[in-house]
Amino acid sequence: STKKLWGGRFTETGAKYVDDFGASISFDQLLAAEDIAGSLAHVKMLKKTGILPAEDVDKIVAGLETLAARQKAGELEFSTVNEDIHMNIESLLTEEIGPVAGKLHTARSRNDQVATDFHLYLKHQLPLILDRLHELETVLVDKASENVETVMPGYTHLQHAQPISYAHYLLAYYQMFKRDMERFEFNMQHTDISPLGAAALAGTTFPIDREYSAKLLGFSDVYHNSLDAVSDRDFVLEFLSNASILMMHLSRFCEEIVSWSSYEFKYISLSDQFSTGSSIMPQKKNPDMAELIRGKSGRVYGNLMGLLTVMKGIPLAYNKDLQEDKEGAFDTVTTVLTSLHVFTGMLATLTVNEDRMAEATTNDFSNATELADYLANKGIPFREAHAIVGKLVLDGLKKQRPLQDIPLSEYQQISPLIQEDVYHDLDAKVAVQRRHSLGGTGFDQIKQELQRAQAQLATY
Ligand code: ARG
Repeated sequence: STKKLWGGRFTETGAKYVDDFGASISFDQLLAAEDIAGSLAHVKMLKKTGILPAEDVDKIVAGLETLAARQKAGELEFSTVNEDIHMNIESLLTEEIGPVAGKLHTARSRNDQVATDFHLYLKHQLPLILDRLHELETVLVDKASENVETVMPGYTHLQHAQPISYAHYLLAYYQMFKRDMERFEFNMQHTDISPLGAAALAGTTFPIDREYSAKLLGFSDVYHNSLDAVSDRDFVLEFLSNASILMMHLSRFCEEIVSWSSYEFKYISLSDQFSTGSSIMPQKKNPDMAELIRGKSGRVYGNLMGLLTVMKGIPLAYNKDLQEDKEGAFDTVTTVLTSLHVFTGMLATLTVNEDRMAEATTNDFSNATELADYLANKGIPFREAHAIVGKLVLDGLKKQRPLQDIPLSEYQQISPLIQEDVYHDLDAKVAVQRRHSLGGTGFDQIKQELQRAQAQLATY
């Protein structure tokens, strides 16, 4: 293998398979733009502080700008000989401007350099994820506003519990994704901090201006401990953890989409665009995209567990283990962005079978609570009312007769307090509409929540 940038104190060179094992260029080339930007800020700081002569800096800046343009055009070629993105860029810069390129690394280390690149990378990706979440939230709220009065069974233990509005169901996910957005926004606070100038681990004797380079890079703050600056990956762990929670939400939603599009439920139907067929069974229309998003939660959780495990045994400060921080994070960014994109399209184009949902709420005894509440309102202790209705349900199941089909004469044998108006209360839609309690599924509550959500989305 060839001469290394750090080869001075070495007399032997490692074998190619060892170099290949240690190299990160195959994946950290994704940080090329950030690496060049970090170098530009660093070298401009070296000029401002007088650490390097202006004419040297100007040459380096021109060279880095050429590299930035070539990078944008996809023209940079990297090699494993140069191990990682930092040394590849420095070596390309040397090809571009000659030995003056060697002054760029004054008062800096790859340790603060890689941390800076990673912070910049995530700082650029988080807003893209927030944009996708905002799109999803917008679709959710649109769908919810079209379905305030769409009544469906509400479940606990996957057993029919009480009827709810489909809009209420959708707005539950709105709340989850809203919290996801808040978590990514908070994640930004720990990402938007510059480690540059921490150098290898201890800072530097050169009179650098860390706040200046941070400002050039658009960072809001700087790390205040050089050991922490080069070894902290909390911002990545927070990202992976936030992404895991988001994927868990998507996965639960997908689980319902998969079940609800089945023959047994038939509550929804996916558009052809977001379904696939079978190579053998001509009738098939499979919810592949929903299943795949549900499945992709696994790799994101894996990436979180991976980095947590990498981090747990690392003594301060930089250790090469930290090179393992990148692939899982890159993979998570891609997985989250594509999953959100596909999910939003799938949700926007699926159709709801309102009749089937309504039908599922009519003979399922999910109005039993209504009858118990009715009796409680007439002064019967709720516990007693519960027992009375329980017996009626048992009898109704035997006779295949739902509560709303019991004649008034029979009701009055149970209690003369039961009047004609009981049938009004037993209607599933009425049961939903009347749940006026704050945050309940009542139509008025949903409309208020819709307004609140629309206002929130408008301020994004
Ligand atoms: N490729 C390395 C990484 O990703 C860059 C930092 C290397 N620093 C070092 N002292 N070996 O972590």
